Amino acid sequence: MKSKVLLFLFSLCFFFFDCESNRHQQGEILYLNFCASCHMDDGTGLAGNIPPLAQSDYVSQNQGRLACIIRYGMEGEVVVNGKTYQNPMAGIPQLSEFEIANIINYVNQAWGNDYGYLPMNVVRDGLEECRE
Ligand code: HEC
Repeated sequence: MKSKVLLFLFSLCFFFFDCESNRHQQGEILYLNFCASCHMDDGTGLAGNIPPLAQSDYVSQNQGRLACIIRYGMEGEVVVNGKTYQNPMAGIPQLSEFEIANIINYVNQAWGNDYGYLPMNVVRDGLEECRE
């Protein structure tokens, strides 16, 4: 009996650890499918044309806007790390808010970024504000 309880707790433990790593894994897969063609696998962008997401002051300072950028895109001038970019980015409307959150949280900790964890409710509020 006791060993069954232990086994149960043990598997529960595994389950939770797995969930934790799956979350970043899904974010990474989505990033590679939907973002890497422009922002590159390593988040460095394309000099002069596409701004970086790795070590991007814009990403670290505009956490609340990231969900809107992913869903609705962005155009006009944007300054990232002192360099000006001006090419429109199309929105990606088919991503759910969970998928968007997973992508943001992947970006926030990838490539040496240390921008913290963005909770789901912040992502949702961000999307509320920019909904057209
Ligand atoms: C077709 C190319 C393309 C794709 C795909 C794309 N972007 Fe962008 N992204 C751009 C361009 C170009 C800009 C600059 C927009 C501007 O000048 O206003 C940009 C700007 C950004 C910015 C703000 C500036 C910065 O670099 O910090 C973020 C954040 C961003 N993109 C995230 C993403 C994420 C996350 C994805 C995937 C879900 C994605 N982008 C997919 C081209 C793309």
